[in-house]
Amino acid sequence: MKEDDRIITSSMREEDLKNEYSLRPKFLNEYIGQDQAKEHISIYIAAAKSRGESLDHALLYGPPGLGKTTLAGIIANEMGVNLRVTSGPAISHAGDLAAILTNLAPGDVLFIDEIHRLNPAVEEVLYPAMEDYALDIVIGKGPGARSIRLDLPKFTLIGATTRLGMLSSPLRDRFGIKEQLQLYSPEQLKEIIVRSAQILSIDIDEEGALEIASRSRGTPRIANRLLRRVRDYAQVKGSGCVDLMTAQRGLDMLAIDELGLDAVDRRMLIAMITIFKGGPVGLDTIAAYTGEDAGTIEDVYEPYLLKLGFLARTNRGRIVLPEAYAHLDYPIPEGAAAPQQMKLEV
Ligand SMILES: Nc1ncnc2c1ncn2[C@@H]1O[C@H](COP(=O)(O)OP(=O)(O)O)[C@@H](O)[C@H]1O
Ligand SMILES: [Mg+2]
Repeated sequence: MKEDDRIITSSMREEDLKNEYSLRPKFLNEYIGQDQAKEHISIYIAAAKSRGESLDHALLYGPPGLGKTTLAGIIANEMGVNLRVTSGPAISHAGDLAAILTNLAPGDVLFIDEIHRLNPAVEEVLYPAMEDYALDIVIGKGPGARSIRLDLPKFTLIGATTRLGMLSSPLRDRFGIKEQLQLYSPEQLKEIIVRSAQILSIDIDEEGALEIASRSRGTPRIANRLLRRVRDYAQVKGSGCVDLMTAQRGLDMLAIDELGLDAVDRRMLIAMITIFKGGPVGLDTIAAYTGEDAGTIEDVYEPYLLKLGFLARTNRGRIVLPEAYAHLDYPIPEGAAAPQQMKLEV
């Protein structure tokens, strides 16, 4: 199954696009959860504003769908500046970046999504821009070539990435602010769902919202998507109101279980239990068995399974933990209860 075919994928799907804009919180006080990142950012913003300076460059990282793009927009709004949005793969030449940078106004936020995918030549241009607010341009070729330095306005770069490890260390070091976004609790997702339901005029009760929240894998993008699916189900098969029963039935129909696992998760865990005796299994082996890309498993699906305590990463591969056996109705083998005896990776 291709990643994007999975209803529980946290990557953006076509269907998310038309709602994403209206559902995005615009200010910090509408941004639910991520208390630590929110507190840090609100302090940095207040400090920068009181000094009349631009905000320091910020790096936001964490799995897809947790609110990185949203937070970048909020920072620009709170600072009262423009937001320019681009992405690592969209900037193919150093000249493209130079054009973007020279068009910024003082204080503007430049948001580069998937910043780990910047090509190295473009990254070179970014270093002096971030550090000295300057652009080094080489004019001419050969012995007659000379370099001139252009001043840039004091801007704020916000980078977002799902893979902090893939960022070069010189780039990482140039961000004064680094915030990791965490998976959300069901209670926080419930709040997000209730808020979204209000904006989309969906009739929902607390229990219905909590049921969707518990199956949304800690991810607001998935929560909003499941809310729309359940609304459709409620309109066709129910009273129109998303209550507990409608939410349960609608989500069961999508083959998403009480914890948000879909058929691919179950297949992966069951293969690890039955074929590999609970592991350790290497990531590439898991990828081969499920037909998913190893990087996608690591960035998109595994974080939630780790959070549930279903899997652990060890220095020899992934192991299945007792919670997963219990959830899938498999007998827990004796050794499975003692993952702490293996060297766990941090
Ligand atoms: N803290 C939050 N509060 C409310 N809604 C949120 C929050 N974070 C994310 N969302 C919702 O989830 C969607 C996906 O967030 P997004 O910022 O695009 O994630 P990312 O850039 O990390 O992939 C947004 O459209 C927004 O509606
Ligand atoms: Mg994004």
